[in-house]
Amino acid sequence: MKKKLQVLSISLALASATSILHAEGNINAGKQKSASCTGCHGDDGNSMVATFPKLAQQHSSYLVKQLQAFKDGTRNNPMMSAIAMTLSDEDMTDVSAYYATQKISENTLPVLESADEDEKPAADKPTDKKDTIQAIIAQGSDLYRNGDLKSEVSACIACHGPFGEGNKPASFPALKSQHADYLIKALTDFKSGSRSNNPENIMHMIAKKMTDAEIKAVSYRISMMK
Ligand code: HEC
Ligand code: HEC
Repeated sequence: MKKKLQVLSISLALASATSILHAEGNINAGKQKSASCTGCHGDDGNSMVATFPKLAQQHSSYLVKQLQAFKDGTRNNPMMSAIAMTLSDEDMTDVSAYYATQKISENTLPVLESADEDEKPAADKPTDKKDTIQAIIAQGSDLYRNGDLKSEVSACIACHGPFGEGNKPASFPALKSQHADYLIKALTDFKSGSRSNNPENIMHMIAKKMTDAEIKAVSYRISMMK
C-alpha cells in the first residue's frame, strides 16, 4: 500500500510538472484553428456524435497531452492521428486554450437497449424502463464515489473530483457531461490496453478490474453529471 501511494505521488508530481511546461495558448487564434475540428467535435467543442468526445470545458493541459500522443503515436486513432500530424505545438496549445473556455452541453438520460434489461419490459408498466436506468445510474454513482473494495477498483472521485471536474494542476481530465458512448469506449480501450499513454498506466490498472456492466453503469452516471 505504501509503495502504491509513493508511485501515485510521484506520478502526480510528474503530471503537474509537465502541465507547467505548457505555454499559455491564444484563445482567439485557437478558435480560428478549430475550424478543421468542428465537423467532428462540433462548433464549440460539443460534438453531436456520441463516439466523438466533447472537448468543451476540458483542461487545456490534458487536451495538449492527448494531441501530442496522437501525433507521436502513443495514442492510436486513425482519424485523430492523421489530424494531429498537421498540428504544430503552437496550434495544439491555441486550440486547447480555446476549447477549455467553452461550456460543455448537458446530455439527455441514456436510453436502454432491450439487451440491458434483466427482464422483458412489460408494456403495461411504462415506469419499468425509467426505474431500471435509475438503478444502473445509482450503481454507477456508488462506484464513482466509493470504488469497489472487493474487486479493488479505485474510487474515481479521488482523481476526477466530486463533480467530474477533473484536476487541472495534475492534468486529470474532466469527465462530467461527456457522451456515455465515448466514456464506455475509452474505459474499454484502457481495459484492453489499446489505450496506454497515461502516466503509470493508471487507467489500465483500474479499468482491467471493472466488469463491462460496471463500465456501462459508471459511464451512464458520469454522462449525467453537470
Ligand atoms: C474525422 C473526425 C475528427 C476530426 C475532424 C477531429 N477529431 Fe478529434 N477525435 C475524433 C475521435 C473519433 C476521437 C476519439 C478517439 C478515441 O476514441 O480514442 C477524437 C479525440 C480527440 C481528442 C481526445 C479527447 C479526449 O477526451 O481524450 C482531442 C484532444 C481531439 N480529438 C482534438 C481534435 C482537434 C483539436 C481537432 C481539429 C484540429 C480534431 N480533434 C478533429 C475525431 C475527429
Ligand atoms: C489515480 C487517479 C485516477 C483514478 C482513481 C481514476 N482515474 Fe480516470 N484518469 C486518470 C488519468 C491520469 C487520466 C488521463 C489518462 C491519459 O492521459 O490518457 C484518466 C482518464 C480517464 C478517462 C478518459 C477521459 C477522456 O476524455 O478520454 C476516463 C473515461 C476515466 N479516466 C474514467 C475513470 C473512472 C470511471 C474511474 C473510476 C472507476 C477513474 N477514471 C479513476 C486518473 C484516474
